[in-house]
Amino acid sequence: MLLAIETSCDETAAAVFDWQAVESRAPLSKGLVSEVVSSQVKDHAPYGGVVPELAARKHLELLPLVVSSALKDAGIKESELKAIACSRAPGLKICLLVGYSFGKGLALSLGVPFVGTHHIEGHLYAHELEEGGDEAEYPRLSLIVSGGHTLLVLSESFRDYRIIAETMDDAAGEAFDKSASVLGLPYPGGPQLSALAKLGNRQAVPLPIGVKDRPDKFSFSGLKTAVVRAADAAKEGSAKLSETSLHDLAASTETAIVEALVFKSKAAIEKYQPKSFVLAGGVAANGFLRERLQEVLDIPFFVARHKWCTDNAAMIALVAAKELREGEGVSASKDPGVASRESLEMLNSSALSTSA
Ligand code: KG4
Ligand code: ZN
Repeated sequence: MLLAIETSCDETAAAVFDWQAVESRAPLSKGLVSEVVSSQVKDHAPYGGVVPELAARKHLELLPLVVSSALKDAGIKESELKAIACSRAPGLKICLLVGYSFGKGLALSLGVPFVGTHHIEGHLYAHELEEGGDEAEYPRLSLIVSGGHTLLVLSESFRDYRIIAETMDDAAGEAFDKSASVLGLPYPGGPQLSALAKLGNRQAVPLPIGVKDRPDKFSFSGLKTAVVRAADAAKEGSAKLSETSLHDLAASTETAIVEALVFKSKAAIEKYQPKSFVLAGGVAANGFLRERLQEVLDIPFFVARHKWCTDNAAMIALVAAKELREGEGVSASKDPGVASRESLEMLNSSALSTSA
Protein backbone atom coordinates (compact mmCIF):
# COMPACT_ATOMS: atom_id res chain seq x y z
CA MET A 1 0.00 0.00 0.00
CA LEU A 2 0.98 3.61 -0.58
CA LEU A 3 0.36 6.19 2.17
CA ALA A 4 -0.30 9.80 1.13
CA ILE A 5 -0.26 12.85 3.41
CA GLU A 6 -1.68 16.35 2.90
CA THR A 7 -1.03 19.30 5.24
CA SER A 8 -0.67 22.30 2.93
CA CYS A 9 -3.33 24.47 4.57
CA ASP A 10 -5.92 23.74 7.27
CA GLU A 11 -6.87 20.17 6.42
CA THR A 12 -4.87 17.32 7.99
CA ALA A 13 -5.36 14.34 5.70
CA ALA A 14 -4.04 10.85 5.00
CA ALA A 15 -5.02 8.23 2.42
CA VAL A 16 -4.04 4.65 1.72
CA PHE A 17 -3.83 3.54 -1.90
CA ASP A 18 -3.61 -0.01 -3.24
CA TRP A 19 -0.10 -0.84 -4.44
CA GLN A 20 -1.46 -3.14 -7.15
CA ALA A 21 -3.26 -0.17 -8.69
CA VAL A 22 0.06 1.66 -8.71
CA GLU A 23 2.01 -1.15 -10.35
CA SER A 24 -0.66 -2.32 -12.78
CA ARG A 25 -2.34 -0.24 -15.50
CA ALA A 26 -5.76 -0.61 -13.81
CA PRO A 27 -7.77 2.63 -13.61
CA LEU A 28 -6.60 4.61 -10.61
CA SER A 29 -10.22 5.15 -9.56
CA LYS A 30 -10.05 1.60 -8.19
CA GLY A 31 -7.01 2.30 -6.01
CA LEU A 32 -8.27 4.24 -2.99
CA VAL A 33 -8.52 1.98 0.08
CA SER A 34 -9.07 4.45 2.92
CA GLU A 35 -8.88 8.16 3.63
CA VAL A 36 -9.25 10.48 6.61
CA VAL A 37 -9.59 14.26 6.51
CA SER A 38 -9.62 16.35 9.67
CA SER A 39 -10.65 19.93 9.01
CA GLN A 40 -9.48 22.77 11.25
CA VAL A 41 -12.13 25.23 9.99
CA LYS A 42 -13.60 25.64 13.51
CA ASP A 43 -10.15 26.43 14.99
CA HIS A 44 -9.55 29.29 12.54
CA ALA A 45 -13.10 30.69 12.37
CA PRO A 46 -12.64 33.07 15.35
CA TYR A 47 -9.75 34.73 13.45
CA GLY A 48 -11.63 35.15 10.16
CA GLY A 49 -9.05 33.14 8.19
CA VAL A 50 -6.35 30.49 8.47
CA VAL A 51 -3.62 31.35 11.02
CA PRO A 52 -0.48 29.57 9.72
CA GLU A 53 1.21 28.87 13.05
CA LEU A 54 -2.00 27.61 14.63
CA ALA A 55 -2.55 25.38 11.58
CA ALA A 56 0.98 23.95 11.82
CA ARG A 57 0.55 23.18 15.54
CA LYS A 58 -2.76 21.46 14.81
CA HIS A 59 -1.13 19.39 12.03
CA LEU A 60 1.57 18.29 14.50
CA GLU A 61 -1.11 17.17 16.94
CA LEU A 62 -3.49 15.58 14.45
CA LEU A 63 -1.30 14.02 11.76
CA PRO A 64 -0.17 10.94 13.76
CA LEU A 65 -3.81 10.27 14.70
CA VAL A 66 -5.07 10.81 11.14
CA VAL A 67 -2.39 8.51 9.69
CA SER A 68 -3.09 5.78 12.30
CA SER A 69 -6.76 6.00 11.59
CA ALA A 70 -6.25 5.73 7.77
CA LEU A 71 -3.99 2.68 8.29
CA LYS A 72 -6.52 1.11 10.66
CA ASP A 73 -9.36 1.65 8.19
CA ALA A 74 -7.20 0.02 5.49
CA GLY A 75 -6.50 -2.89 7.85
CA ILE A 76 -2.71 -2.63 7.53
CA LYS A 77 0.33 -1.91 9.68
CA GLU A 78 3.00 0.71 8.96
CA SER A 79 5.45 -2.08 8.12
CA GLU A 80 3.28 -3.09 5.15
CA LEU A 81 3.71 0.28 3.41
CA LYS A 82 5.58 0.26 0.09
CA ALA A 83 5.91 4.03 -0.40
CA ILE A 84 4.99 7.35 1.23
CA ALA A 85 3.80 10.44 -0.65
CA CYS A 86 3.23 13.96 0.63
CA SER A 87 2.29 17.30 -0.89
CA ARG A 88 5.31 19.60 -0.90
CA ALA A 89 4.14 22.87 -2.57
CA PRO A 90 2.42 25.23 -2.92
CA GLY A 91 0.87 26.03 0.44
CA LEU A 92 1.70 27.42 3.88
CA LYS A 93 5.37 26.54 4.31
CA ILE A 94 5.28 25.74 8.02
CA CYS A 95 2.25 23.52 7.43
CA LEU A 96 3.85 21.71 4.47
CA LEU A 97 6.95 21.10 6.59
CA VAL A 98 4.94 19.19 9.19
CA GLY A 99 3.59 16.65 6.70
CA TYR A 100 6.77 16.49 4.68
CA SER A 101 9.03 15.85 7.69
CA PHE A 102 6.63 13.26 9.09
CA GLY A 103 6.34 11.47 5.71
CA LYS A 104 10.05 11.55 5.02
CA GLY A 105 10.88 10.32 8.50
CA LEU A 106 8.43 7.45 8.15
CA ALA A 107 9.78 6.53 4.68
CA LEU A 108 13.36 6.59 6.04
CA SER A 109 12.49 4.42 9.01
CA LEU A 110 10.69 1.90 6.79
CA GLY A 111 13.29 2.06 4.01
CA VAL A 112 10.65 2.76 1.33
CA PRO A 113 10.54 5.38 -1.47
CA PHE A 114 9.28 8.87 -0.64
CA VAL A 115 7.44 10.99 -3.23
CA GLY A 116 6.99 14.73 -2.81
CA THR A 117 3.99 15.75 -4.94
CA HIS A 118 2.71 19.09 -6.21
CA HIS A 119 -0.52 20.05 -4.47
CA ILE A 120 -2.05 21.65 -7.59
CA GLU A 121 -1.42 18.47 -9.55
CA GLY A 122 -3.58 16.79 -6.92
CA HIS A 123 -6.46 19.14 -7.77
CA LEU A 124 -5.79 18.74 -11.52
CA TYR A 125 -6.36 14.96 -11.31
CA ALA A 126 -8.81 14.63 -8.39
CA HIS A 127 -11.67 13.85 -10.82
CA GLU A 128 -9.75 10.68 -11.82
CA LEU A 129 -10.63 9.27 -8.40
CA GLU A 130 -14.13 8.95 -9.88
CA GLU A 131 -14.91 6.04 -12.18
CA GLY A 132 -14.50 7.23 -15.78
CA GLY A 133 -12.59 10.34 -14.68
CA ASP A 134 -9.52 9.27 -16.66
CA GLU A 135 -11.62 9.45 -19.82
CA ALA A 136 -11.21 13.24 -19.87
CA GLU A 137 -9.41 13.62 -23.17
CA TYR A 138 -6.30 15.75 -23.71
CA PRO A 139 -5.81 18.57 -24.26
CA ARG A 140 -7.72 19.29 -21.04
CA LEU A 141 -8.62 22.70 -19.70
CA SER A 142 -8.83 22.73 -15.89
CA LEU A 143 -10.30 25.49 -13.75
CA ILE A 144 -8.91 25.28 -10.23
CA VAL A 145 -10.75 27.53 -7.80
CA SER A 146 -10.14 27.44 -4.06
CA GLY A 147 -9.43 29.73 -1.14
CA GLY A 148 -5.83 29.99 -2.29
CA HIS A 149 -5.87 29.50 -6.07
CA THR A 150 -7.62 30.60 -9.22
CA LEU A 151 -6.02 28.99 -12.25
CA LEU A 152 -6.89 27.94 -15.76
CA VAL A 153 -4.48 25.20 -16.79
CA LEU A 154 -4.13 23.67 -20.23
CA SER A 155 -2.65 20.14 -20.11
CA GLU A 156 -1.49 18.33 -23.22
CA SER A 157 -0.63 15.22 -21.16
CA PHE A 158 0.54 14.28 -17.66
CA ARG A 159 3.39 16.68 -16.91
CA ASP A 160 2.76 19.05 -19.77
CA TYR A 161 1.09 22.11 -18.30
CA ARG A 162 0.50 25.65 -19.36
CA ILE A 163 -1.06 28.23 -17.06
CA ILE A 164 -3.52 30.10 -19.26
CA ALA A 165 -4.83 32.43 -16.57
CA GLU A 166 -4.25 33.15 -12.90
CA THR A 167 -5.34 35.73 -10.37
CA MET A 168 -3.57 39.05 -9.94
CA ASP A 169 -4.81 39.43 -6.36
CA ASP A 170 -7.47 37.47 -4.45
CA ALA A 171 -8.42 33.89 -5.25
CA ALA A 172 -12.06 33.14 -6.15
CA GLY A 173 -12.72 31.45 -2.78
CA GLU A 174 -11.12 34.40 -1.01
CA ALA A 175 -13.44 36.74 -2.95
CA PHE A 176 -16.42 34.69 -1.72
CA ASP A 177 -15.13 34.70 1.87
CA LYS A 178 -14.17 38.40 1.98
CA SER A 179 -17.47 39.51 0.43
CA ALA A 180 -19.34 37.23 2.84
CA SER A 181 -17.50 38.85 5.73
CA VAL A 182 -18.53 42.33 4.45
CA LEU A 183 -22.12 41.05 4.52
CA GLY A 184 -21.66 39.95 8.14
CA LEU A 185 -21.38 36.19 7.53
CA PRO A 186 -18.87 34.13 9.56
CA TYR A 187 -15.70 32.60 8.01
CA PRO A 188 -15.54 30.75 5.68
CA GLY A 189 -18.56 32.55 4.27
CA GLY A 190 -18.49 31.22 0.67
CA PRO A 191 -21.07 28.45 1.17
CA GLN A 192 -23.34 30.72 3.24
CA LEU A 193 -23.15 33.55 0.74
CA SER A 194 -24.07 31.03 -1.93
CA ALA A 195 -27.07 29.77 0.07
CA LEU A 196 -28.38 33.35 0.52
CA ALA A 197 -27.76 34.10 -3.17
CA LYS A 198 -30.55 31.68 -4.08
CA LEU A 199 -33.04 34.00 -2.36
CA GLY A 200 -31.93 37.23 -4.04
CA ASN A 201 -32.04 39.06 -7.36
CA ARG A 202 -28.82 38.43 -9.33
CA GLN A 203 -29.19 41.70 -11.25
CA ALA A 204 -30.04 43.91 -8.26
CA VAL A 205 -26.57 45.42 -7.76
CA PRO A 206 -24.24 45.95 -10.74
CA LEU A 207 -20.77 44.71 -9.70
CA PRO A 208 -17.59 44.76 -11.77
CA ILE A 209 -15.90 41.82 -13.47
CA GLY A 210 -12.19 42.55 -13.06
CA VAL A 211 -9.75 42.78 -16.00
CA LYS A 212 -12.28 41.58 -18.59
CA ASP A 213 -9.87 42.53 -21.37
CA ARG A 214 -7.04 40.34 -19.98
CA PRO A 215 -7.62 36.67 -20.92
CA ASP A 216 -4.59 35.62 -18.85
CA LYS A 217 -5.66 37.23 -15.57
CA PHE A 218 -8.43 37.17 -12.99
CA SER A 219 -8.88 39.99 -10.49
CA PHE A 220 -11.30 40.03 -7.55
CA SER A 221 -9.98 42.81 -5.30
CA GLY A 222 -12.06 45.50 -7.04
CA LEU A 223 -15.16 43.40 -6.51
CA LYS A 224 -14.61 43.31 -2.75
CA THR A 225 -14.31 47.12 -2.66
CA ALA A 226 -17.49 47.42 -4.73
CA VAL A 227 -19.33 45.08 -2.34
CA VAL A 228 -18.20 47.21 0.63
CA ARG A 229 -19.56 50.35 -1.11
CA ALA A 230 -22.81 48.69 -2.16
CA ALA A 231 -23.36 47.31 1.36
CA ASP A 232 -22.77 50.76 2.90
CA ALA A 233 -25.19 52.35 0.43
CA ALA A 234 -27.85 49.69 1.07
CA LYS A 235 -27.62 50.16 4.85
CA GLU A 236 -28.67 53.81 4.43
CA GLY A 237 -27.13 54.76 7.78
CA SER A 238 -28.54 51.82 9.75
CA ALA A 239 -26.23 49.25 11.36
CA LYS A 240 -27.56 46.21 9.56
CA LEU A 241 -28.58 45.26 6.02
CA SER A 242 -32.25 44.50 5.46
CA GLU A 243 -32.99 40.89 4.57
CA THR A 244 -33.80 41.81 0.95
CA SER A 245 -30.59 43.82 0.56
CA LEU A 246 -28.57 40.97 2.06
CA HIS A 247 -30.07 38.45 -0.35
CA ASP A 248 -29.70 40.76 -3.36
CA LEU A 249 -26.09 41.59 -2.53
CA ALA A 250 -25.25 37.91 -2.01
CA ALA A 251 -26.87 37.02 -5.35
CA SER A 252 -25.13 39.86 -7.19
CA THR A 253 -21.73 39.01 -5.66
CA GLU A 254 -22.01 35.31 -6.48
CA THR A 255 -23.02 36.21 -10.02
CA ALA A 256 -20.05 38.56 -10.51
CA ILE A 257 -17.53 35.94 -9.29
CA VAL A 258 -19.08 33.10 -11.26
CA GLU A 259 -19.46 35.14 -14.45
CA ALA A 260 -15.78 36.14 -14.29
CA LEU A 261 -14.81 32.45 -14.07
CA VAL A 262 -17.22 31.42 -16.82
CA PHE A 263 -16.24 34.27 -19.14
CA LYS A 264 -12.50 33.46 -19.05
CA SER A 265 -13.09 29.71 -19.25
CA LYS A 266 -15.23 30.17 -22.34
CA ALA A 267 -12.68 32.44 -23.98
CA ALA A 268 -9.90 29.91 -23.26
CA ILE A 269 -11.96 27.10 -24.76
CA GLU A 270 -12.52 29.12 -27.93
CA LYS A 271 -8.84 29.95 -28.18
CA TYR A 272 -7.23 26.61 -27.26
CA GLN A 273 -9.94 24.16 -28.35
CA PRO A 274 -9.45 21.62 -25.51
CA LYS A 275 -11.29 18.30 -25.71
CA SER A 276 -12.45 18.26 -22.08
CA PHE A 277 -13.03 20.62 -19.17
CA VAL A 278 -12.20 19.85 -15.52
CA LEU A 279 -13.46 21.83 -12.52
CA ALA A 280 -11.66 21.45 -9.16
CA GLY A 281 -10.98 23.15 -5.81
CA GLY A 282 -13.33 24.03 -2.93
CA VAL A 283 -15.31 26.60 -4.98
CA ALA A 284 -16.32 23.75 -7.32
CA ALA A 285 -18.96 23.05 -4.65
CA ASN A 286 -20.75 26.18 -5.84
CA GLY A 287 -23.95 25.05 -7.55
CA PHE A 288 -24.37 28.22 -9.60
CA LEU A 289 -20.83 27.89 -11.01
CA ARG A 290 -21.44 24.26 -12.06
CA GLU A 291 -24.79 25.19 -13.56
CA ARG A 292 -23.40 28.12 -15.57
CA LEU A 293 -20.37 26.15 -16.80
CA GLN A 294 -22.57 23.29 -17.94
CA GLU A 295 -24.81 25.78 -19.72
CA VAL A 296 -22.04 27.39 -21.74
CA LEU A 297 -19.57 24.53 -22.29
CA ASP A 298 -19.87 22.41 -25.39
CA ILE A 299 -17.14 19.91 -24.41
CA PRO A 300 -17.26 17.05 -21.85
CA PHE A 301 -17.26 18.35 -18.27
CA PHE A 302 -15.58 16.55 -15.33
CA VAL A 303 -15.79 17.34 -11.63
CA ALA A 304 -15.10 15.13 -8.61
CA ARG A 305 -17.51 14.77 -5.70
CA HIS A 306 -17.22 17.59 -3.17
CA LYS A 307 -14.91 15.85 -0.67
CA TRP A 308 -12.28 15.39 -3.41
CA CYS A 309 -12.60 19.00 -4.66
CA THR A 310 -11.49 20.36 -1.28
CA ASP A 311 -8.03 19.52 0.10
CA ASN A 312 -7.59 15.79 0.69
CA ALA A 313 -4.89 13.12 0.59
CA ALA A 314 -6.63 10.81 -1.89
CA MET A 315 -5.73 13.19 -4.74
CA ILE A 316 -2.11 13.27 -3.50
CA ALA A 317 -2.02 9.46 -3.55
CA LEU A 318 -3.41 9.43 -7.07
CA VAL A 319 -0.76 11.85 -8.36
CA ALA A 320 2.02 9.92 -6.60
CA ALA A 321 0.70 6.73 -8.21
CA LYS A 322 0.79 8.43 -11.62
CA GLU A 323 4.30 9.70 -10.96
CA LEU A 324 5.52 6.26 -9.87
CA ARG A 325 3.90 4.66 -12.93
CA GLU A 326 5.06 7.16 -15.50
CA GLY A 327 8.42 8.09 -13.98
CA GLU A 328 11.52 6.13 -13.22
CA GLY A 329 9.63 3.20 -11.73
CA VAL A 330 8.01 2.29 -8.48
CA SER A 331 11.19 1.97 -6.43
CA ALA A 332 12.60 5.47 -6.98
CA SER A 333 12.24 8.25 -4.40
CA LYS A 334 11.28 11.66 -5.75
CA ASP A 335 12.12 14.20 -3.11
CA PRO A 336 12.44 17.69 -4.56
CA GLY A 337 12.05 19.24 -1.10
CA VAL A 338 9.37 21.54 0.28
CA ALA A 339 8.63 24.53 -1.91
CA SER A 340 11.05 23.74 -4.72
CA ARG A 341 9.60 23.92 -8.24
CA GLU A 342 6.54 25.74 -6.97
CA SER A 343 5.20 26.65 -10.37
CA LEU A 344 3.14 23.96 -12.04
CA GLU A 345 4.87 24.67 -15.34
CA MET A 346 8.22 23.78 -13.80
CA LEU A 347 6.97 20.20 -13.54
CA ASN A 348 6.76 19.85 -17.32
CA SER A 349 8.69 16.84 -18.57
CA SER A 350 10.92 19.00 -20.77
CA ALA A 351 11.68 21.46 -17.93
CA LEU A 352 12.60 18.54 -15.67
CA SER A 353 14.95 17.00 -18.19
CA THR A 354 16.72 20.26 -18.92
CA SER A 355 17.17 21.07 -15.23
CA ALA A 356 18.41 17.57 -14.34
O1 KG4 B 1 -10.12 23.94 -1.71
P1 KG4 B 1 -10.61 24.49 -0.42
O2 KG4 B 1 -11.38 23.58 0.51
O3 KG4 B 1 -9.43 25.01 0.47
C1 KG4 B 1 -8.39 25.75 -0.04
O4 KG4 B 1 -8.57 26.97 -0.13
O5 KG4 B 1 -7.34 25.15 -0.36
O6 KG4 B 1 -11.47 25.77 -0.76
C2 KG4 B 1 -12.09 26.51 0.25
C3 KG4 B 1 -12.78 27.70 -0.39
C4 KG4 B 1 -13.26 28.69 0.65
O7 KG4 B 1 -12.88 29.96 0.22
C5 KG4 B 1 -14.76 28.50 0.62
O8 KG4 B 1 -15.49 29.64 0.97
C6 KG4 B 1 -15.00 28.13 -0.82
O9 KG4 B 1 -13.92 27.27 -1.14
N1 KG4 B 1 -16.29 27.45 -1.00
C7 KG4 B 1 -17.33 27.97 -1.67
C8 KG4 B 1 -18.37 27.02 -1.60
N2 KG4 B 1 -17.93 25.96 -0.87
C9 KG4 B 1 -16.64 26.23 -0.52
N3 KG4 B 1 -17.45 29.13 -2.32
C10 KG4 B 1 -18.62 29.37 -2.93
N4 KG4 B 1 -19.68 28.53 -2.90
C11 KG4 B 1 -19.60 27.36 -2.24
N5 KG4 B 1 -20.66 26.55 -2.22
ZN1 ZN C 1 -5.87 22.95 -2.43
